[in-house]
Amino acid sequence: MPQTTYHFPEGFIWGTATAAHQVEGSNHNNDWAAWENQPGRIHNEDKAGLACDWWNGRWREDLDRAAEAGQTAHRLSVEWSRIQPAPHRWDEDALDRYRAILRGMLDRGIQPMVTLQHFTLPLWLAENGGWENDEIPGLFETFVQRTVTALKQYNTAWITINEPNVVIYSSYIDGLFPPGKKEDIAAAWHAVLNIIRSHALAYHAIHEIQPKAQVGMAHQYHGFIPARKYSPLDALIARVNHQSFNNVFPLALTNGRVRFLHKRTRLPHAAGTQDFFGLNYYTCEMVSFRPAPKNLFQKRWFPPEAEPSPFQFNASYPPGMFTALEWANTCGLPIHITENGIEDSQDDFRRKYLLTHLHQLWQALNHNIPVRSYYHWSLIDNFEWERGWDMQFGLWTFDRETQVRTPRPSAALYAAICQQNAISHELVEAYAPAVLPKLFPGG
Ligand code: GAL
Repeated sequence: MPQTTYHFPEGFIWGTATAAHQVEGSNHNNDWAAWENQPGRIHNEDKAGLACDWWNGRWREDLDRAAEAGQTAHRLSVEWSRIQPAPHRWDEDALDRYRAILRGMLDRGIQPMVTLQHFTLPLWLAENGGWENDEIPGLFETFVQRTVTALKQYNTAWITINEPNVVIYSSYIDGLFPPGKKEDIAAAWHAVLNIIRSHALAYHAIHEIQPKAQVGMAHQYHGFIPARKYSPLDALIARVNHQSFNNVFPLALTNGRVRFLHKRTRLPHAAGTQDFFGLNYYTCEMVSFRPAPKNLFQKRWFPPEAEPSPFQFNASYPPGMFTALEWANTCGLPIHITENGIEDSQDDFRRKYLLTHLHQLWQALNHNIPVRSYYHWSLIDNFEWERGWDMQFGLWTFDRETQVRTPRPSAALYAAICQQNAISHELVEAYAPAVLPKLFPGG
C-alpha cells in the first residue's frame, strides 16, 4: 500500500536559529553579563561564560554540520555591546568578525537572517535606563545604520528586535530579566513605546541603506485558553493577555495603534513597518481569573491535552502552532517561523514535538497561509537566559569542558526533513513511532 508523505512547497527554507549572547561566549559588556553576576538571578548561578565559543571561531564547525545536515538558512544575532562598546566607540574588528561569519555562511550555502537586538543591551545603555531611556530610539537607529552598512553585502533579511513582548513581561512584570522590575506597569508601558519607536526608526533606516531589504520583528505567540468555557471573567483575562502579550507589537507595526493592559496611544509612524511576519511559537496555557491583583489577576497552567516537556518549562501543544500561524496571517504578510523548539536533553520528546509541530505547519500551508521558512530553535544547546545551562534546546549537544559536539537523534531526523523537504511515513516510523497515529491515522 502506498504510504502518505507530507510534502512542503518547493523552495521552502529550512534552518536553525541562535542568538549572540547564547552562543558567542566572552560577552562581558552587556546587561546580561552583569545580571549573571548577581546572586540568585540565574538557575544554578550559571553564566554564559565561553558558551559555544562562536566568538573564537567555533561557528565554523557548527555551521559545517548545519550545512551537511541539509539546512540552507540560519538566523543569528549581532551583539550591540561588541559593535558599540561605549557611547562614542565603534569596534571595526567586531564588525569584521560578523562579516567573516556571514561570508562563511554564504560559502556553506546557508542564507543568513540577522537579528539586530536579541535581549541584551550594552551595559552603558542599560545603566542609563535601557528601554526606558527616551534616547534609545535614536541610539538604536545609529547602531542599526552602522551595522547594516557594514553587513549589507552579505545579508538582506533583518529582524530588528527579538520578542519585544517577552522583554516587556520578563523585564518589567515578572522581574526575571534585567532590570528585574516586578509588575511595574508604568515602566513596561514606557519601554513598549520606546521599543516601537526604535523599531520604526530602524525599519526606515535599513530601507534607506538597502532598498531590497526585508525587515521584520520576531514575535512570540503564546496561546491563552480560557479555563472555564462559560466564565466571562476567564474569557476577559484571556483576551487581555492576548491583546497585551501577543497583539501589542504586531498591531502597532500594522496600524500605529498601541494597546497594552489599560493603556492606549497612537504612534502613526510605526504603521506599515514590517515586510514579513517573524513568528516564534513554543506553547499555550490555560488561564483563569483570580480575584487578587498578584500575577495580574490570573492563574495559568498547561492544557490537559498538552504534554509537558521533561523539564516542564514548555508543553507540547501542536494545535497552538496552527492557531499561531492563523493569527500571524491576519497581518497579511509572508510569514517566517523564526523560532520553534523544545527543551529536552534526552531528545525523545523533541522528536515528537518536531514532527507534530511541522505537521501543523504543513496543514497551515495547505490552508494557503504563506509560510516561507522554518528556523528550529536551536542548532546547538546554548545559554538559556535565567534558566541557565540545564535547559537544552539543541539538535546538537556539547561538552562545556571540552567543547566537543554530539548530535542528538533529532539532528538526523531534521536533516532528513530538510533534505527531503517532506515528512514521510517511514521517517516518523523510524524516529517517533508514538506519533504515527496522530500523523497517519489510517495506519
Ligand atoms: C525564546 C528566545 C530564545 C530562546 C528560546 C528558548 O523566547 O527568543 O533566545 O531562549 O526562547 O527558550
